[in-house]
Amino acid sequence: MFRTAALALGLFASTAALANGPAPVRPPETDLVALGRYLVKTSGCNDCHTPGYAPSAGAVPEAQWLTGDAVGLQGPWGTTYPSNLRQQFQQMSEAQWLQRARQPMRPPMPWFALRDMADTDLKAIYAYVRAAGPAGQAAPAYAPPGVAVRTPVVAFPSPPPAGKP
Ligand code: HEC
Repeated sequence: MFRTAALALGLFASTAALANGPAPVRPPETDLVALGRYLVKTSGCNDCHTPGYAPSAGAVPEAQWLTGDAVGLQGPWGTTYPSNLRQQFQQMSEAQWLQRARQPMRPPMPWFALRDMADTDLKAIYAYVRAAGPAGQAAPAYAPPGVAVRTPVVAFPSPPPAGKP
């Protein structure tokens, strides 16, 4: 009976694996480019920095990854645009990147996620983006609060007035 159950479980597991493709494997630190590609895919960078990535569940050609977005993200901080990292990384050394990655950035960039990443992971992201090469256009410039912009925007709700949840 145990054997039957084990067999049935095994069958179920292999069906699940087939339906979703093989389970992803984290590349080793000896292959920084592959590790960086994996981190970019799994830590959310594409969600904002690649147009159409989140709505299509990642079905965007890799050639367009991290080319920035011209849809503004608007809130109490003004309007920010996810930067074109493919262009920007070409102008930065690895040492400059390690420094930049640990400094505050405007919302909704989760800069604290970069701050808390291990050096090896930051270096891997750098290696991947550099290897991917430059592509796309620069994102529109940041607009401070109250300054009108011509692009479409996604507006974040203002925080509730103090004292009211
Ligand atoms: C929720 C959306 C969002 C996510 C997720 C996100 N970013 Fe950003 N990122 C932004 C926005 C918006 C800006 C522009 C901020 C500004 O104008 O100051 C930005 C700016 C940056 C910058 C600064 C560029 C400069 O001007 O120096 C870097 C570097 C960066 N992001 C890297 C990443 C990486 C790497 C990841 C994945 C770990 C990531 N971002 C995830 C939205 C996002």
